[in-house]
Parts: sequence; C-alpha cells; structure tokens
Amino acid sequence: MNVVVTGAGGFIGHHLVNRLKAEGHHVRGVDLKRPEFAPSAADEFQIADLRHFESCLRATEGMDDVYQLAADMGGIGYISANHAFLTRNNTLINSHMLEAARLSRVRRYLYTSSACVYPSFLQNGADVTPLRETEAVPADPEKGYGWEKLFAEQLTGYYHEECGLDVRIVRFHNIYGPLGAYDGGREKAPAAICRKVALAPDGGCIEVWGDGLQTRSFCYIEDCIEGIRRIMESGYARPINLGRDELVTVNQLVDAACAAAGKELTRRHDLTRPQGVRGRNSDNSVLADLLGWQPETALCEGIQPTYDWIAAELVSASP
Ligand SMILES: NC(=O)c1ccc[n+]([C@@H]2O[C@H](COP(=O)([O-])OP(=O)(O)OC[C@H]3O[C@@H](n4cnc5c(N)ncnc54)[C@H](O)[C@@H]3O)[C@@H](O)[C@H]2O)c1
Repeated sequence: MNVVVTGAGGFIGHHLVNRLKAEGHHVRGVDLKRPEFAPSAADEFQIADLRHFESCLRATEGMDDVYQLAADMGGIGYISANHAFLTRNNTLINSHMLEAARLSRVRRYLYTSSACVYPSFLQNGADVTPLRETEAVPADPEKGYGWEKLFAEQLTGYYHEECGLDVRIVRFHNIYGPLGAYDGGREKAPAAICRKVALAPDGGCIEVWGDGLQTRSFCYIEDCIEGIRRIMESGYARPINLGRDELVTVNQLVDAACAAAGKELTRRHDLTRPQGVRGRNSDNSVLADLLGWQPETALCEGIQPTYDWIAAELVSASP
C-alpha cells in the first residue's frame, strides 16, 4: 500500500514511519523538517508546509492511506503561550488535509487528536474520573490547541458523513519515549523531567512545575504505534481514546525518572508555571472492547529507555 505520514519529522510520525516500513508499505513522509535524531526510513520525504493547500494535494496524491500527524504543538508551556498562531496553523493544516484527501480519493484517513479536547470542568480534581469519548461535548477544552483539535475532529466527522471519507479519530493521552523533543520548549513533561534528572548531580535538586500532585496518565510510544495501527484496521470512525489508564501524580513521574537514573533528588515546586488541568486519565473501555487490547507498558518500564536515551543525547550534545 502507498501510505503518507504527515508530521513524519516529528516524534510519533517518525516511529510510525518505521513501523509502516517494517510492514512492507511504500511510505511517503511529509513535514516542515526531517527528523532531528535519526534518519527517516520513508521511501520519499517531502519537505512541505501543510498550511498551504497545494502542499496537501502533493502529499496525498496517489496515496491509499493518510496518517495526519502534522501539528504545531509542544508541552504545556508552549501551547499556553501561542494560542493565536498555533490555532491558526493547525486549522489550516487540518482543513486543507481533509479536502486534499477527498480530492485525491484516498482510501482511509487517520486524524490524531488529543485528550486536550476534554472539558476542563471534568478535570478539576487530581482524583479524576477517567474521561470517556462521549464527554468531550458539552465543550470546554484546553484554550487554543484543544479547541482546534475538537473543531478538527468535528470537521473530520463531517467529511465522513457527507463525503464518504473513511476516517479514524484518535485521542492521544500524553505519549512519551525515545526520539521525542527533550528541550527547547516543545518537550512534554516526561521528557522535561528526564532531562532535569539527567542534568542534576545525585543528591541535587530539580525544579518541578506545580505542586507535583497534579495527575496524568502516560502512554509509551510503542503502545501508541501499535494502537494507531490497530485502530486504522478496525474500521471505527468515531473518536477513540488511545492512552494508558495508569493514573500517576507528577511527583510519581519524578520518582520514576529518579529510579531510572539511580539518583536521589529533592524538588523545588514552582507554582507560577503553567500546569494544565488538575487531573486527567483515559477511559479505555471503547478501546478494549473494540480491539481486545489496550496499552500495556507501565510507566516504570517505559521511562527507563526514555531516560537512557535522553541522558545519552545530553552527553553527546555537551561540548
Ligand atoms: N505527543 C503527545 O503526547 C501527543 C498528545 C496528544 C496529541 N498529539 C498529536 O499527535 C500528533 C503528533 O504529535 P508529536 O508528539 O509527534 O508532535 P511533534 O511536534 O513531534 O510532530 C509534529 C510534526 O508536525 C510538523 N509540522 C508542524 N507544522 C507543520 C506544517 N505547517 N507543515 C508540515 N509539518 C508541520 C512539525 O515540524 C513536527 O515535526 C499531533 O497531531 C499532536 O497534536 C500528540
């Protein structure tokens, strides 16, 4: 099959290209940039700005399947500080990619959404009830990034209902693992914590955003890729969660990174930094019923290769 992965220069897209190549597909990668940490395995790689419709047409031309992972995104610090341009950029990418996929008569289209679509009023406590797919509306998602994701989900659904596009809509919950951004502002909490732990001397102190009692679930990249492929093959066209349902505090995330490093560190909590919602977890009932499978890798297992990779990167990057 001819498959295009947009966002193939990014974290999840790069891993997905590897998987699709291993399955024997002809893979086209498209992104503003090539992957930073390892060469892409894609058969062809288009450097393109998908905010432009012509780039989306070139990306989808001759393709059977589309995996739409291109997005202007980053950790909570980045998405909280860039509402206007991030929302505009992602609206353009998603609107143009859907129309290009329709015109190119692709067979299937997978859109990568986010747990940021869920309403903040369901996430005010650390002991949060896992979020079910049907709870995204009535809406009060994350400002900017989350509103755009919810809009793009709806738009993807309209292309399914009115144009017959065979779609998948996958809501990721905090994906982490090797080959993801670990500094520069676009990194997510697991990578940022691993970087801070790696840079601190044993017995030292690291800064943690918030009081550390905010909760999340974290899904390892290998489970994410397995889930993407299974969902694509499932035929399920409605939004579906893809995450772990192991709820941990940010303090427990720090504990896991310290254990991976073999270090004992103290924490300085910075309450002035953005923290996102108080608590968030994935309800995996639909996923488990549909696939007979759900993400399996515990945080303590997945954080070790993530930490090892970031620590090695920091060593090789140091003068
Ligand atoms: N990583 C997570 O925890 C997570 C959680 C929820 C949703 N998602 C979604 O999953 C998808 C992939 O995320 P990721 O973690 O790999 O992010 P990433 O930032 O590593 O990858 C996104 C890629 O999109 C590319 N891109 C941005 N603007 C573009 C443009 N105008 N034209 C072409 N390419 C462009 C970037 O260069 C980047 O390589 C995104 O849709 C993201 O919103 C990720």
